[in-house]
Amino acid sequence: EFAIIECGNRSPLYKKEGTISDKFPMSCHTTGLSCIWQTHCYNLEVYFPDKQKFIILKLLSWLIISVIFLLIVIISFAYIVKVIVKQKKLSEMKNDFINNMTHEFKTPISTISMASEVLLKADEKTSQERLKKYSQVIFDENNRLKLQVERVLEIAQMDKHDFKIDKKDQENVNDIIRKTVDNLCMEHCQRPVDIIYKLNAENPVIKIDRLHFKNVINNLIDNAYKYSGDKPKIEISTHNTPEGVIITVHDNGIGMSTETQKQIFNKFYRLPTGNIHNVKGFGLGLYYVKNIIEQHDGSIKVSSELNRGSRFDIYLPFGNTN
Ligand SMILES: Nc1ncnc2c1ncn2[C@@H]1O[C@H](COP(=O)(O)OP(=O)(O)O)[C@@H](O)[C@H]1O
Ligand SMILES: [Mg+2]
Repeated sequence: EFAIIECGNRSPLYKKEGTISDKFPMSCHTTGLSCIWQTHCYNLEVYFPDKQKFIILKLLSWLIISVIFLLIVIISFAYIVKVIVKQKKLSEMKNDFINNMTHEFKTPISTISMASEVLLKADEKTSQERLKKYSQVIFDENNRLKLQVERVLEIAQMDKHDFKIDKKDQENVNDIIRKTVDNLCMEHCQRPVDIIYKLNAENPVIKIDRLHFKNVINNLIDNAYKYSGDKPKIEISTHNTPEGVIITVHDNGIGMSTETQKQIFNKFYRLPTGNIHNVKGFGLGLYYVKNIIEQHDGSIKVSSELNRGSRFDIYLPFGNTN
């Protein structure tokens, strides 16, 4: 909108008809027209009715682009920070793992070296019994080493995704559990352990990979024993659900906080506290267990309370039994 206004009485000499709004006199831009009308003083007054809206509309596309760029920058920054924190945690865990592994390998290696030294120094006077004892030590420790290496290799294979279980056998879960737990080295353990069976599932025959399933049970029992006090009590039970079997391993050990429970199935995770430093492990057991159970289309969940004990429930579906 514009008008030519006389300075003194402010009467418009010319205006663009019909469009002059009330706001015009207050917020117009004024310029003197003295160059054209030498004698009189006239002003050309111009008013933009929707100045602000017009400017904003003009800038809107740039505004939107800037906001999008800003968002992208913020999101990228948050992502980078997250990745860095994750990497840092991972590298700490890997360091712990390497420390643990060195520690775990050092013990059998030094035992083997000591026992073989004794054998090397043996002469005719050494009794057969003594020789046999040291050979047995070497044999046992060697087996332990082999098992540990196999465990680590298995996890490495799992990560490469070329790890497949072989569910070829229809197995009675109760039978395998009993055999596995009976075979465990409980008599070698320093603390006496009380194992209670409540294998109540009826006819729990499921297609499973026998070897890996045994390892799963071994891992859970091993943890229940390791993370317990002086009198470990482990209860192993099974019961039916309409579509499968639930296997429960319950201990009266040190338990875990809710925060720990969220992480125990992660690779390399071990509770980073000093008070269980004497307890050895790679932090791979539960990662392996979860992987194997999931490959059986099952699931695993944990419930635990600090200083009260932990309970692991494994669900295995009957699935297609043909
Ligand atoms: N039964 C349990 N009671 C208390 N803590 C447990 C139990 N089982 C597992 N955990 C915790 O979960 C962590 C991961 O377990 P796992 O993957 O088997 O590794 P590892 O046995 O080598 O420490 C353990 O370091 C421990 O902190
Ligand atoms: Mg373990």
